[in-house]
Amino acid sequence: MSNQNRDAEYTMGRSESETDRLIEQSVLYDDVTRRFLRRSGIAKGMKVLDVGSGAGDVALTLAEFVGSEGTVIGVDVNADILETARERAKTAGATNIEFIAGDTRTLELPKDFDAVAGRLVLMYMADPADALKHLADHVRPGGIVAFQEVDFSPYSVAVHPDTPLINDLIEWGRTVFERSGAHIDMGMELYKTFVDAGLPEPALHFEAPMGGPENWPGFEYLENSFRSILPLIEAYEIATADEVDVETLAGRIQSEVAASKRPIMLPPHVTAHATIPS
Ligand SMILES: C[S@@+](CC[C@H](N)C(=O)[O-])C[C@H]1O[C@@H](n2cnc3c(N)ncnc32)[C@H](O)[C@@H]1O
Repeated sequence: MSNQNRDAEYTMGRSESETDRLIEQSVLYDDVTRRFLRRSGIAKGMKVLDVGSGAGDVALTLAEFVGSEGTVIGVDVNADILETARERAKTAGATNIEFIAGDTRTLELPKDFDAVAGRLVLMYMADPADALKHLADHVRPGGIVAFQEVDFSPYSVAVHPDTPLINDLIEWGRTVFERSGAHIDMGMELYKTFVDAGLPEPALHFEAPMGGPENWPGFEYLENSFRSILPLIEAYEIATADEVDVETLAGRIQSEVAASKRPIMLPPHVTAHATIPS
């Protein structure tokens, strides 16, 4: 069970390779996020708060959606990763984004946002409903609250006798996130989180990229994800580095998928959006 009294120990770690992995992840989930932001109603001219910006991918997409007449403020508690986000915004010519270092729950922020959005961030907070209530206070009446979060619960359907490596990865992955204090079922918890935060019932969607083809980039992404969580897998004594054998992981997953003819599912994401009553 997640610890409700403290934030998660940041499960993915804070290395340069983790920053690269976040960017790789954003490519794999890009169309999921774009569909989500579109149906949430993010539009030209809006002023949007991006919670937990990381390397800046959601903020960059939001900046496209709101256009030059809109603005995006991205906040992250990790000041270092925002250097990468700022560089990327500069390279993209996105002059309508500002990144601010700090905890979104305590930073002094404007109260007139048209929308607050975030991806894979509520899962690390001790009390997501309390955080969401606080964040929604920064949105004007009639504005939008929109979050995209992971959910590990559908993985039970991916466990099969002929995929022992994938079964191990699911078990190791679930355990390390749970032990770190992250909410591993944050996606399915979004409905309750919105309602407990005093928001209207959200519209919900569920999506997971799946892979099988030889050249699918998800195999490499899974290897890199395990590279990021390996230090905690070892620290919590969930598995040894030899058992994970991260350097050969992508190839071994791909071989197992090819032999079993059973596709592998990347972590499913649930999206939720609601409009604050006017
Ligand atoms: C998994 S990353 C996701 C980054 C980005 N949203 C994306 O989807 O590519 C989560 C980010 O949330 C940040 N974060 C976690 N708790 C936070 C908080 N209370 N306030 C601001 N940022 C936070 C972490 O530092 C990390 O960079």
